[in-house]
Amino acid sequence: MKKSTVLVIDGGGRGSVLTAKYLESKLVGKVLVTPGNDLMLINKNVEIFPNIKTTDTKNILNVCIKNKVDLVDVAQDDAVAVGITDILLKNKFKVFGPTKAAGQIEWDKSWSKNFMNKNRIPTAKFKVFKTQKAGILFIKKHKDSKWYVKASGLAAGKGVIFAANNKEAIHAINQMKNFGKSGETFVIEESLEGEEFSSFAAVNGKKFIILGHAQDHKTVYDGNIGPNTGGMGCSSPPLAITPYIEKQVNVIFKKTTAGLVKLKRPYLGILYLGGIIDSKGKVKVIEFNARWGDPEAQVILPSIKNDYYSLVAEILNGNKPRIIKDKKYRIVVAATAKGYPVDYSKIVGKEIKGMDKLVKSKVKIYGAGVKLQGNKYLVSGGRLFYVLSEGKNVAEARKIAYNALSLVSIAGGNLHYRRDIGYRDLKRN
Ligand code: AMP
Ligand code: GLY
Repeated sequence: MKKSTVLVIDGGGRGSVLTAKYLESKLVGKVLVTPGNDLMLINKNVEIFPNIKTTDTKNILNVCIKNKVDLVDVAQDDAVAVGITDILLKNKFKVFGPTKAAGQIEWDKSWSKNFMNKNRIPTAKFKVFKTQKAGILFIKKHKDSKWYVKASGLAAGKGVIFAANNKEAIHAINQMKNFGKSGETFVIEESLEGEEFSSFAAVNGKKFIILGHAQDHKTVYDGNIGPNTGGMGCSSPPLAITPYIEKQVNVIFKKTTAGLVKLKRPYLGILYLGGIIDSKGKVKVIEFNARWGDPEAQVILPSIKNDYYSLVAEILNGNKPRIIKDKKYRIVVAATAKGYPVDYSKIVGKEIKGMDKLVKSKVKIYGAGVKLQGNKYLVSGGRLFYVLSEGKNVAEARKIAYNALSLVSIAGGNLHYRRDIGYRDLKRN
């Protein structure tokens, strides 16, 4: 039987774990990745296209035609927002990923918040603004509070600003213009208190299956200090996700998928629910994303025992396959260049020492901003690579991950990672 060729659209750790997962399938012969990263080449049967960006629809289509691709996995948000799914579907390719219209739930925060209200999906109270003047007036009418000010469009994870009081909120509103078109419309919302988590479902129209939950660690430093990043590490399955929480998550996915079908924007692909559990144990949605989380994918995908290619094929066929998960606890730690997410330009090009030992150790490695030059591993971005470990509990998983991380360094102490990944469950254990 001819084996299938899969194209994954992503360059980072999420694309790396997806690539690894597809390669495990007996039905897959080859995985192509746009743009991919050098560490993916540790696997056989992988081809990367470093010059094809996730938004380069023309060249992505060419890769699909030239290689007779059997399935495209649209893993990255920018790709969804430029409508790559729509283009590939028009050209008769099989795609696992939402259309531009369904993906609006991520790429347009004001649309998404209005959608949540209309569909009675619990979320933070909010208001949408089109001028800075109106936003400032709104803040001035309220007593001093904590707020979130958010550019409505995609802003590479930087468009969300926390304001500890009204003065900071006004400052944040003034910054919206820095996000260009993405910040022309912005959302001001109340700040919710509680424990954050993310849940993931594979969706086809009104049918969905929950694939897992994780907890991300968003700020750059231990103890949730410093600027927000794309995620410094995840743990899974979180002990905070009790059956009561899972039931609420299920209801939210049900309302969301049905709401999108009603709007004639049926969702197909992975849907990400970013939630918060308030002091009464009620779930509220912070945001939806039209893709796997990064690094959430790195801790959840390896826990799924199903053949992932078959799983996706079944979902595309409108079936609801039974998900088989293992019982292991996993953590993933993001290793970054010191200075990330602000300025790491001085670290670019430096060598990461000990990578060969790390690759041979007990953990799994997923790459992002690492370039291979001969047998040297060089820094090529802020987020370098991810170390994934598994154990019977969080303590064991942490021990394995951090032992492995002690094998790697960048001269001058320029390798940074958080040392408290999984701290919530470590305290609970
Ligand atoms: P977003 O891009 O909307 O997910 O926001 C980024 C991060 O900001 C979230 O993961 C939360 O940690 C935080 N956040 C956003 N909105 C709120 C809110 N209304 N209340 C509390 N935290 C929030
Ligand atoms: N880990 C956060 C995200 O993928 O958006």
